[in-house]
Amino acid sequence: MEREYFTHKGVLFSSPDYSPEELSYVENEFQVRDDDVFNVTYPKSGTNWMLEILSLIRCDGDPGWVRSVLSWDRAPWVEHYLGLEAALKYPSPRLLCSHLPVQLFPKSLKCSKAKIIYTLRCPKDVLVSLYHFSKVLRIFKTPESLDSFLEDFLSGNIVYGSWFDHVTGWLGLKGSKNFFSITYEELQQDPQGSVRRICHFLGKELSEEQVASVVENASFQSMKVNKMSNYSQMSDQLLDHQQGALLRKGICGDWRNHLSEGQSRRFNAIYQERMQGLSMTFPWDC
Ligand code: A3P
Repeated sequence: MEREYFTHKGVLFSSPDYSPEELSYVENEFQVRDDDVFNVTYPKSGTNWMLEILSLIRCDGDPGWVRSVLSWDRAPWVEHYLGLEAALKYPSPRLLCSHLPVQLFPKSLKCSKAKIIYTLRCPKDVLVSLYHFSKVLRIFKTPESLDSFLEDFLSGNIVYGSWFDHVTGWLGLKGSKNFFSITYEELQQDPQGSVRRICHFLGKELSEEQVASVVENASFQSMKVNKMSNYSQMSDQLLDHQQGALLRKGICGDWRNHLSEGQSRRFNAIYQERMQGLSMTFPWDC
């Protein structure tokens, strides 16, 4: 199925996966519930890893749910037409996923007690991961070259828009009681501590054994062989299984194997310019 692309309020989306009507519905009419937990990310920032962690926390570390129910059924994507239908029918408490930038997120979030977990990742690793995955997941435009993809990434000519706008927009909520942010790098460096912090935010108490079970069952190796989580069951209409897989390398710093010095310098210049307003430090060099 050939994709067409359209811009909705300045952000690129693919059709028929998304539509302006549904995006407007999600923004203006979708009712966020007080007990919703949203897993929010820019694409390729560790969405599925976080989803696995949240699914396991919900089950006190018991892997039964993640081994028996497909990830997108455990946590529907609110802005995707299939996910929206599922989210509307989903009994409370819902676990939901979204890549929407903050300005397109359901307005009803503001007057709810729903919790947002925002995971972000070194943008050069996001770029490299997305470059590979754009050849796999059909909603993304197939890149012509890494050079042209770099320019698209830097200018935000990407489905879901600019990484810079996404991150600066969502991190504007930092300090709000119901907003929690964490990096992919923190999850890698200290998985146990990260799971404990997520539990604390969710008001969930797990024993040391339960935390260990969350970490183990959400590990790259466990997810890689779990058909419910590795996208191997995704339809050919959405994913070209010949071209690659969701769980590619799962490491920090892979950009060093792909970006030239010139490309890295070009990235850094835009990064400094776009991120200077954020008085925050991140666990990566750009
Ligand atoms: P790479 O392409 O760098 O390997 P998303 O879920 O947001 O689409 O992000 C996918 C990226 O997260 C991929 O990165 C994938 O390998 C990585 N990933 C998925 N599950 C992971 C896990 N359990 N541990 C570490 N990385 C994981």
